[in-house]
Amino acid sequence: MLKEADSAYGVIRVAPQPSGFGAEITGVDLSRPLPAPVLDEVKAAWARHGVVAFPDQPLSLDALEAFTLEMGGFGHDPFIKPMPGRPNVLELRREPDEKATNFGAGWHSDWSFQDQPPAATLLRSEVTPPVGGDTLFCDCARAYAALSPTMQTMLAPLKAIHSAARPYGTQGSFAKETAQRTMQIITSTEAEKTRTHPLVRTHPVTGRKALFISPVYTVGVEGLTEPESEALLGFLFKHMVQDQFIYRHQWKAGMLLMWDNRCTMHLAEGGYDGHLRLMHRTTVAGDAPV
Ligand code: SIN
Repeated sequence: MLKEADSAYGVIRVAPQPSGFGAEITGVDLSRPLPAPVLDEVKAAWARHGVVAFPDQPLSLDALEAFTLEMGGFGHDPFIKPMPGRPNVLELRREPDEKATNFGAGWHSDWSFQDQPPAATLLRSEVTPPVGGDTLFCDCARAYAALSPTMQTMLAPLKAIHSAARPYGTQGSFAKETAQRTMQIITSTEAEKTRTHPLVRTHPVTGRKALFISPVYTVGVEGLTEPESEALLGFLFKHMVQDQFIYRHQWKAGMLLMWDNRCTMHLAEGGYDGHLRLMHRTTVAGDAPV
């Protein structure tokens, strides 16, 4: 059950999730341009809650693109063929008879290996399976806050190394898979490049610090040996995915979900073999993490 609606908003209704992370937003029609004060409220709620769900939003792809632009402009989505005629929209489609692992099955923050990873991802459900298909989110700010002051001080100067090689490299998991996949993945040596970002980043709106690492895209820590990196990252990943930092999103068809990649990571759970799952996804451009 959702908690009581948050009274800090004039137009939209914001009901925080009982998990203490994430919220549901009603009282807004995303199929039309939002008046500036309403857009400000949506942005404030998104920054505050990290993952916001808008139920019952019958959005066309044009409207999804328009709302993405209102949120800040398109990010760049590499390694996946976009929809025909819509370079900024990905179709996340898994057919009932598909055997390939569902897309997004490992914990990650979208495209964290980019110089300027996307601030937001928007995902709209078109067809949801009757079982499974949940998306799990980790609150990386609360996970950071729960670390000891000594650990926080130790992490402060560290830079994490990010790369898309594990999923999208020429020796990566997509390159090796044999089962047929509907989504068209483009594996490439480009994915093998690495970039560093602060291991702890500060949210540009809330000022909250968050762990900015993930098992899929973080491949090491600058200045540490491989065993040292593995030990530190292994500890942090285990710490981050404890139940108290997780919000489990259960989808209904026609729902838009928007999450903040700067302070969350997520995982698509699967568990719906034999059923179609169809989503449309866009990203909002972000800044270089600091
Ligand atoms: C993703 O964007 O990682 C996929 C999320 C999902 O399909 O639930």
